[in-house]
Amino acid sequence: MIYSRIAGTGSYLPEKVLTNDDLVAMGVDTSDEWIRERTGIEQRHVAAEGELTSDLAEKAARKAIEAAGIEAEEIDFVILGTTSSDVVFPSTACKVQAKLGCPGGPALDVNAACTSFMYALSIADQYVRSGASKCALVMGAETLTRMLDWNDRTTCVLFGDGAGAVILKPSEEPGILSTHMHADGNYTDLLHTSVGVSSGFKENEPRAGVKVAMKGNEVFKMAVKTLGQTVVETLEANQMRQSDIDWLVPHQANYRIIAATAKKLKMDMDQVIVTVNQHGNTSAASVPLALDHGVRSGKIQRGQTMLLEAFGGGFTWASAMIRY
Ligand code: COA
Repeated sequence: MIYSRIAGTGSYLPEKVLTNDDLVAMGVDTSDEWIRERTGIEQRHVAAEGELTSDLAEKAARKAIEAAGIEAEEIDFVILGTTSSDVVFPSTACKVQAKLGCPGGPALDVNAACTSFMYALSIADQYVRSGASKCALVMGAETLTRMLDWNDRTTCVLFGDGAGAVILKPSEEPGILSTHMHADGNYTDLLHTSVGVSSGFKENEPRAGVKVAMKGNEVFKMAVKTLGQTVVETLEANQMRQSDIDWLVPHQANYRIIAATAKKLKMDMDQVIVTVNQHGNTSAASVPLALDHGVRSGKIQRGQTMLLEAFGGGFTWASAMIRY
């Protein structure tokens, strides 16, 4: 039996940091206290002018390549989860593939909003396990702050920019034990953008009207409920108990959502990788950023078992049980 195994992880955060107080100074009608209490967020990173999603992804990928001890030319499959691609086409994955110098194999973007990296991981896992890929680069990268309306305090305080990456290689040892992907398109109105190539843009608005619109309270409730069901599904699929999991590596949207999922798993918060305080919600980048943080901080050790999960617009949601 061939499994796909994480050979290395990497991540990148733009240099510019925006604290909650910086937002107040920019004129956003909010406070550090409100943001910390409701979300756990203290600061987020913001891409510099001209710094693109592909730039962030490339930097994260290079770190994952180094950690895996491979050469970029060995990569035969490139997949990137993102909602904020550089341009409509070519895909941001194609741009990263060219920057890294590993042409030839397939390169594609996946858009499942905040769940994009989990979808990308699941697809790459299938490629590696089937023998179609011997070395896959899986990334999640976003410049989501470019989609924010800085006059809308209900959304602009939540998001940040960043990128994370993993290299997957075939192995006789597990590896990715299972992945679970889901979507329910009946909830598009709760978290969405209202413009696009097909729908058209708004000429007189900043960034042609591309902005995140969200009914936060309803998204919150759905996220808690759905993620609770997802972790149960993932445990059952692997015939595992809560106590078999060493680490929860959750999507970093809101500390209270993370804590609710940890409670469902009867896990202490010191078994949970938390980066939302430092990064905000980096959408597709949040899980691989948290994973890389967990690995590089020495918390996540080889042989340990971790549960990754995410929830996002669509709605989409997904999980993976992984032996690192
Ligand atoms: N600063 C200060 N006050 C704010 C604010 C801000 N940034 N944003 C909203 N408020 C106000 C609201 O206007 C409201 O005021 P009112 O009671 O006078 O009407 C009050 O705070 C409470 O708003 P509410 O939306 O009920 O707060 P909440 O506890 O639900 O927290 C979120 C709001 C957005 C933090 C929370 O709903 C959330 O995290 N939702 C999930 C979002 C998410 O994860 N999205 C991405 C999924 S991938």
